[in-house]
This record gives sequence, C-alpha cells and structure tokens, in this order.
Amino acid sequence: MRKIGILCSGGDCPGMNACIKAVVGTCVSNDIEVIGINRGYQGLIENDVRPLTLLDVANIETIAGSIIKTSRSAEFMTEPGFNQAVANLKKNGIEGLIVIGGNGSFRGCRDLVNAGVKVIGIPGTIDNDLFYTERSLGFDTAVQQAVDTITDIKQTMYANDRAVVFKCMGRHCGDIALHAAVAVEADALAVNEVGYSISEVVRDVKNAMKHGITSPVVVISEGSPIDMEELVFEIQSQVHLTTRGIEIGYLQRGGAPTYYDRMLAVRWGVLAVDMLRQDLTNLAVGIKNDKIFSCPLIEVENVLQEFRVDMVNDLRTLHGLCKL
Ligand code: F6P
Repeated sequence: MRKIGILCSGGDCPGMNACIKAVVGTCVSNDIEVIGINRGYQGLIENDVRPLTLLDVANIETIAGSIIKTSRSAEFMTEPGFNQAVANLKKNGIEGLIVIGGNGSFRGCRDLVNAGVKVIGIPGTIDNDLFYTERSLGFDTAVQQAVDTITDIKQTMYANDRAVVFKCMGRHCGDIALHAAVAVEADALAVNEVGYSISEVVRDVKNAMKHGITSPVVVISEGSPIDMEELVFEIQSQVHLTTRGIEIGYLQRGGAPTYYDRMLAVRWGVLAVDMLRQDLTNLAVGIKNDKIFSCPLIEVENVLQEFRVDMVNDLRTLHGLCKL
C-alpha cells in the first residue's frame, strides 16, 4: 500500500486529532503517503484533499476537534455524490481509506467497500452508541468534561441551597449521563434506557432531601423524554428549592482528550494502518476488556446495546433506593 486517505465524519470527538497523528506517524514510518480529506465525505466529493506530513500533525494529539474537520454529508447519500467520492479516491491514487466516525459514517464505509474501496472504520463519537465496542473515541473525555462541569457548578449550588438539573449529550444513548451521574454521586438520574418520569425524579429528589441533602443534583440524558424546563419547574414547586437547569452541551465535545482517549486513538490508528498494509479491508476496530480487536463492518450494526443497569443500581443503592 503506497497511499492511504483519512477522513473524519459525523460529529467530531476528542481524540480524532490524536488518531490522525498516529495514522500519519505509522504511515511515515512505513513509507506510505497520507492524504487528509477535509470535511469528511463532503470534502471527498469536492476533492478537498491535502497530503499530511509529520509537521502538519505536530502536537495535535492534545487538542479536541479535527485538523481535517468533519461534516455530515447528505450529498454522499445520493448516487451522483457517492460516485464522485469514489472517483476522487481513484483520481488521488488512494489505495486504502480510514474513516473516523459514528453509525452513519460506518454505513458510508460499507457502501464504499461495496464499490471496491479498501476501508477501515474507527469508532469516533462521544455518544458511545456503537455497541460492538465497549468504548468509542471521545466518550471518556466527554464524561470527564461533564464530571468536571457538574463538580464545579455543584459548589455554587450548594452555597445557595439550590437544586440543579444537568443535561448531558449522547443523542439516544444515555451512557455519558450514566457515567457522569455515578462519578458525581448524583441524587437522581433519568435516561431513556430505563424510562424514568418527572414524578419519579422528583420522588428521588425528595428522598435525597429526606436524608439531609440540601442541594440535590439531577442528571438527565439528551435522549430522555423528560423536558428539562418542565422538570426544573416541578422540582422547584414541589420541594420549594430554587432550581436551575444546565445543558452541558458542546463542552463535552470540545475538551482536551483524556489519556484514555489518546491511548485508544494511537492504538486504533496504528492497527488501522497495519491492517491496510496487510491488504485487509471492510473492518472496524474496537476494544473489549482492554484488548483492541477488529471485526467485519457488517457486524457493527447487529450488536444491541447492553445498558449498564448495574451502574444505575449502584447509584440507587447509594441513595437507599430500591434496585431496578
Ligand atoms: O453525535 C455527537 C453529538 O454531539 C450528539 O451527542 C448530539 O446529539 C449531536 O452530536 C449534536 O450535533 P450538532 O453538532 O449537529 O449539534
């Protein structure tokens, strides 16, 4: 393999840059040229590409975002757009492609494989919603960012005897909210996976106050059907505490990658290049029990979520609530 392309697709995630750097480093060490494709599949359609050198990637492992940017391309889903993308890969002499992205990006990978392109997918999304792998790139950082934000804001809420509701990102997956809630020992948690209602959250808040908590902390996920404003109103009116609602938002995507995400980025970047060098294709990389692995791209979609109810129950036990 003489030339490898790399692109990021979908929502960006911390660790993308570290992974780009690892890919470039591995390629340079093995005399392979790397072409960075700007703005994901859209940039591929528009032939917005540039060679990446070690100089281009110096020190980028410490920052979030992506130096080659990312996008969600509707045009790539169309036949002319897709054909143009494939033609541009050929035109640039790209013999293998590495895609860092989430579910939608992996669907794009499979289409490219069907068109004869050699592709390796790296799971990059803060949502942790690619269930064939225990972790996706960026998740650890997103949780850390949520934990740090909640921890800081808790101090001012405590000083004022206020209740507070934090909403975490994650689209339909409650993993960021769950992990952050456990880490901060939140008094109540609502994620769509375990179907919690406003009245149940208010009940948990009341339970916390019964045990002496003066400034209850609630964490909800983006996918939870609970409306934050409504919940804030209900807590305020039922427990008579001033209550604030805080959407943690893009802080979860923009934080400097944790050591864990950087480590994942390096290991997966190296593995992806190594597999392309062996002429392997149609694979996604993942991690399970601290061991990295690869599996066929088609298997990625078939693995269903195993939501960590045990972690929900740890939190409930901590607060003297019955287990689910
Ligand atoms: O998929 C990552 C993610 O940050 C989700 O958690 C969130 O729902 C979505 O992207 C937000 O997308 P946008 O950047 O388009 O607002």
